[in-house]
Amino acid sequence: MTFKAVLFDLDGVITDTAEYHYLAWKKLADSLGITIDRRFNEQLKGVSREDSLKKILAHGGLQNAFTPERFAGLLTQKNDRYVEMIQAITPADVYPGILVLLQSLKAAGKKIALASASKNGPFLLEKMALTPYFDAIADPAKVALSKPAPDIFLAAAKGTGTAIGECIGIEDAAAGIAAIKAAGALPVGVGSPEHLGSDIAVVADTRSLTLDYLQQVWDSACRL
Ligand code: BG6
Ligand code: MG
Repeated sequence: MTFKAVLFDLDGVITDTAEYHYLAWKKLADSLGITIDRRFNEQLKGVSREDSLKKILAHGGLQNAFTPERFAGLLTQKNDRYVEMIQAITPADVYPGILVLLQSLKAAGKKIALASASKNGPFLLEKMALTPYFDAIADPAKVALSKPAPDIFLAAAKGTGTAIGECIGIEDAAAGIAAIKAAGALPVGVGSPEHLGSDIAVVADTRSLTLDYLQQVWDSACRL
């Protein structure tokens, strides 16, 4: 048996928008007198907008300081800033190796789905001219629980008509790797084993994400 579908995270896997999320959160946190750094940001990667703000407020001891209306206002402020930053994204911003991977997956008859927590995912795929490669885009607004819960990966696999056990999930966030494991797909990490765990396949650079590499990871996991 081989894998039939690949479920992609977007921010930090397909392009560098993880950095823009960080910069937009940092600006909001600064305005609230809360200091966050890149180390703290590792906890925010893959996490929904609402849960990210909860974590930042808790970090600053302000978890109960805002009414639901003001909380919603802060979410809007962060998203407006983020949306401003991503307007300039073009196909040139797709990480190295990703377009070739999508093309070779298609040529090999594999299904491709997006399993991003971001409500800006479809807009970004359009900006990068990648929408036509995707057989399914899971809607984060329609899943009950966000990463590290498995819901978005289960929805993405379902969207392609593939059993989750026949899927590979690609993620740059610890919460995302936990979600892939909980769903029952095979995880591949982008980043460092220090953040993602040394029990899974991790590449430091998206150039290493070739069809051959995914096949090797799949074959060695199946031999375990
Ligand atoms: C994830 C990002 O992909 O999407 C998180 O890793 C982000 O940083 C989350 O908070 C939600 O994104 P958005 O665009 O809906 O605020
Ligand atoms: Mg990510």
